[in-house]
Amino acid sequence: MKITMIGAGYVGLVTGACFAEFGFDVVCMDKDENKIKSLNLGIIPIYEPGLDSLVSQGVKSKRLTFTTELNESVSTSDIVMIAVGTPSRRGDGHADLSYVYQAAKDIAAAINGYTVIVTKSTVPVGTGEEVAAIIRKERPDLVEGVDFDVASNPEFLREGSAIQDFMRPDRVVIGTDSQKAREVMQRLYRPLYLIETPILFTNKPTSELIKYAANGFLALKIAFINQMADLCEKAGADVQELAKGMGLDNRIGRKFLNVSPGYGGSCFPKDTLALSRTAHQLESPCTIIDAVIDANAQRKVNMANRIIAKLTERNLSKPRVAVLGITFKPNTDDMRDAASLVIIPELIKQGVDVVIYDPLYYKDSEYLPHLAIQGVTWENEVTFAASAREALKGADALVILTEWNEFRGIDLNEIKTNLATPKGFLPLLIDLRNIYKITEVSGLNYVSLGRPEMNDL
Ligand SMILES: NC(=O)c1ccc[n+]([C@@H]2O[C@H](COP(=O)([O-])OP(=O)(O)OC[C@H]3O[C@@H](n4cnc5c(N)ncnc54)[C@H](O)[C@@H]3O)[C@@H](O)[C@H]2O)c1
Repeated sequence: MKITMIGAGYVGLVTGACFAEFGFDVVCMDKDENKIKSLNLGIIPIYEPGLDSLVSQGVKSKRLTFTTELNESVSTSDIVMIAVGTPSRRGDGHADLSYVYQAAKDIAAAINGYTVIVTKSTVPVGTGEEVAAIIRKERPDLVEGVDFDVASNPEFLREGSAIQDFMRPDRVVIGTDSQKAREVMQRLYRPLYLIETPILFTNKPTSELIKYAANGFLALKIAFINQMADLCEKAGADVQELAKGMGLDNRIGRKFLNVSPGYGGSCFPKDTLALSRTAHQLESPCTIIDAVIDANAQRKVNMANRIIAKLTERNLSKPRVAVLGITFKPNTDDMRDAASLVIIPELIKQGVDVVIYDPLYYKDSEYLPHLAIQGVTWENEVTFAASAREALKGADALVILTEWNEFRGIDLNEIKTNLATPKGFLPLLIDLRNIYKITEVSGLNYVSLGRPEMNDL
């Protein structure tokens, strides 16, 4: 079976490489010439653990190839997957479907023989029908159900553990009313069916909505625990123990109850917004999701204000802050909607000198150009340090923004001795991921989330 993957980004490249690993022939097609050029040179344009060796295995086996040309590969494929971006549309927050629709038009022109067109991108309910309508319009000679079908197959992988998530998913969701398409999709996912992965077949609208409902619910869990953290601070409670006490209830579960400076990334922010817009459009508002969106946006601003308030207490003329971790979560280079995109500009605006160390974004790192590609505008207004230790030296505070594993091992004594500390104060550690235990931070002014501030002067 042959697959063309339209869009070789985080989802297209990972899923394409995984399908090649399953033994299918996969062509990853992308309009971005630089991306395809890099891939053909063996350079992986994104950071995702394990992806480089998976891609090189696929290339070696000749089952994985890359191209900017769509026609040839689509015309010989059994399945064409659309894995292009669906960012928030400027102005109104709806999902921008222009890339999906352009891909549908391009695919239509090239179809030759029965082809299942699969929307793998996260798309609002009704998009699959729209894709089918585009193909019917572009190719009146084709008969739906005979020459082509459109199916929905949302992707649930997480950046940072994408390969494992794809290879061992909690479930696969497929939306189609066509028996013929269902059989093709069954063959595609047979390797996962064999390891007893639940495979849920449903209709297209339900499949499309499952993805948004799942992301909306996960975002809600995050926003909920963050508000509980604020309440814990006022009430003298401990959010870590609260989350544990809640999460041990099997009906709730422990995952996604980690306190944070707000969710970010390529999915939750845009997907909650798109879900809200769709719900309003269909006159069935999801006011819970509306509240989650507002709470999360406010959370990021509150975090910046909290850092500034702590610096203000110290009356510093030109505060300098070391920030550890700027990606939206560990193990990815992805900066989309990261909390750092709100917090760092606010610090700069308030006259703070910001020194950054991130395991991917550090002094002279090969990844630094990725910041500009992703639209980061402040990279020339901060300093990048070569290590966490270097960032710390002489800073007035240390802020942990993203919980990369290597930060867990930082010696607290090193923090104490390297931070600049005015008389009458303790070294200031602001931990926005609660990576330290409250019992191990003596000798520091330790500010974390949803727990008492430590300041044992
Ligand atoms: N990133 C994630 O963790 C994740 C997880 C699950 C689902 N998704 C969804 O998957 C979709 C893709 O996300 P992503 O993070 O991979 O995006 P991405 O921006 O990393 O990649 C999209 C790629 O599509 C290419 N592209 C755009 N239009 C094209 C066209 N007409 N023809 C060929 N290529 C085209 C772009 O050049 C880009 O390389 C989105 O809908 C997203 O919501 C993402």
